[in-house]
Amino acid sequence: MSTPHIRAKEGEFAESILLPGDPLRAKYIAENFLEGAELVTDVRGILGYTGSWKGKRVSVMGTGMGIPSISIYVPELIKEYGVKNLMRIGTCGAGQDYIKLEDVILAEGCCTDSGMLDIFPGDFAPIANFEMLNTAYEKSLQRGNRTFVGLMKSSDLFYGEPVPGDDLWARYGVLGVEMEGAALYTIAARYGARALMLCTVSDSPFEDRELTSAQRETSLNNMIELALDTIIEF
Ligand code: HPA
Repeated sequence: MSTPHIRAKEGEFAESILLPGDPLRAKYIAENFLEGAELVTDVRGILGYTGSWKGKRVSVMGTGMGIPSISIYVPELIKEYGVKNLMRIGTCGAGQDYIKLEDVILAEGCCTDSGMLDIFPGDFAPIANFEMLNTAYEKSLQRGNRTFVGLMKSSDLFYGEPVPGDDLWARYGVLGVEMEGAALYTIAARYGARALMLCTVSDSPFEDRELTSAQRETSLNNMIELALDTIIEF
């Protein structure tokens, strides 16, 4: 068994999967966090592994960047491999001045400028699975993270042009900007899977500093542990 984009055999993915954008981040998680991790797919360099965390079977796979890329992998994982619980872990830009670098954002829902939602005769609102969101929120607070829950914007363009109305997202409380969440939530809704997106803030137009590589590593590791501890509850 394989799909056009995943070469894993039947049963090689766990029911629960973490989905970083970067395939090398999937490798990092497999090598540094999972026990007994084995590579199950590497088509087009999109690395996927299955191992275990605290005795529970978990997979991790890259999605690539942007809605078209994640929209290839998520349906195949759910429909062909029976994956039921999907958690995207990624970075985002701050959408509000009170959101600081390294803060954790749990995406309650995602707005988007992508055309993928144009299939609806009205406006579909892609939302997180509530139980996953609630579990991640409690665990994030227990870890002492500055944690925000609310809307994200999933953009199609990283290098966009200024367009009229750009300021409305912030005015209506959107917490941050990334590029995949709306697709994950929409596809999970379509095929009846649980999904959550957890982001750490990696850049901000409101702050005049950049994260050091040590800070990046700490916030990444913190997010990975939070995601793994959350997903094994499902
Ligand atoms: N825009 C889109 N995606 C991102 C950003 C951003 O500013 N930062 C991290 N991922």
